[in-house]
Amino acid sequence: MRIGVLTGGGDCPGLNAVIRAVVRKGVDVHGDEFVGFRDGWRGALEGDTVVLDVEAVRGILPRGGTILGSSRTNPYSTEEGEKKVLDTVGRLGVDALVVIGGDDTLGVANRLTASGLPIIGVPKTIDNDLQATDYTFGFDTAVMIATEAIDRLHTTAQSHHRVLIAEVMGRNAGWIAWHSGVAGGANVILIPEQPFDIDNVVAYIEHRFASHYAPVVVVAEGALPVEGTLPSRSGEVDAFGHARLSGIGTLLESELAQRTGRETRATVLGHVQRGGSPTAFDRVLATRFGLHAVDALHAGHGDQMVAVHGTSIDLVHLSEATSSPKLVPPELYQEAEVFFG
Ligand code: F6P
Repeated sequence: MRIGVLTGGGDCPGLNAVIRAVVRKGVDVHGDEFVGFRDGWRGALEGDTVVLDVEAVRGILPRGGTILGSSRTNPYSTEEGEKKVLDTVGRLGVDALVVIGGDDTLGVANRLTASGLPIIGVPKTIDNDLQATDYTFGFDTAVMIATEAIDRLHTTAQSHHRVLIAEVMGRNAGWIAWHSGVAGGANVILIPEQPFDIDNVVAYIEHRFASHYAPVVVVAEGALPVEGTLPSRSGEVDAFGHARLSGIGTLLESELAQRTGRETRATVLGHVQRGGSPTAFDRVLATRFGLHAVDALHAGHGDQMVAVHGTSIDLVHLSEATSSPKLVPPELYQEAEVFFG
């Protein structure tokens, strides 16, 4: 089989581990050939390819980023996009695709399968917000990086009797904030799923100072105040129509300083959470996803995504994964509330 491989959307640690596993299993076990598309769907649209053989994937298991490059290009943003992708695939003699991405990239894959092109999706995103899989790879690494940052913020907050705020990624879903906040012993965790009341945040901070400790607040970039209570933020959007966020940390910085009279500083972790080497957990998950993705194509599947449930790797329909984001349930959020303040 001749298989095209692409990585789309925001990058995350573990992409190279998937690519390596797909190529190694495909070549060694199934006798496949591979074509790498550069920069996600852009490469497939424009026929921009790289050689993808066993030599090309040597030594990449622990490397962050993606050897294929990534972009947020959406072929469906123009009328002729789908045809261009199918023309590229036909011209290169590609029989099937392995598409590694989050909801947007896999949403495109799902639409494209209607043309008859077999595609297996592999779920990636540091946000962990894809339905139908317990975890996406990249999430564990992002949580580890954010947790380490929170540990460090605690000690310097304490020395200076300051309020320190860690803004982490998470546009619609607060998984990184919740996990790193619990792991790092945050005194307040704010997530997009639970609009926050600034008066409650102030009360938690004052309570924390009253017990002679300095507070650390973890806030997801998509967290929102209860409507009408704080100035709203607006920004640019990407090719899939998502707002480019960041700014809630600095907004909280000024509001909390003003309302508590305490020195307050925000740290925006940003893309640090997406860079560098994956954790062992993410390397193993990404590797298993890659092995199962190539096997799925040979088993005759063509519109599925690999998913992890417990310790088993299963196949789910692409549409199940991309229909709506997986959000932090209210009861999970409430479990952490006993540590607030
Ligand atoms: O989708 C993953 C993610 O890291 C989000 O958490 C974040 O909002 C977004 O990507 C930022 O993407 P970029 O800066 O690459 O446009």
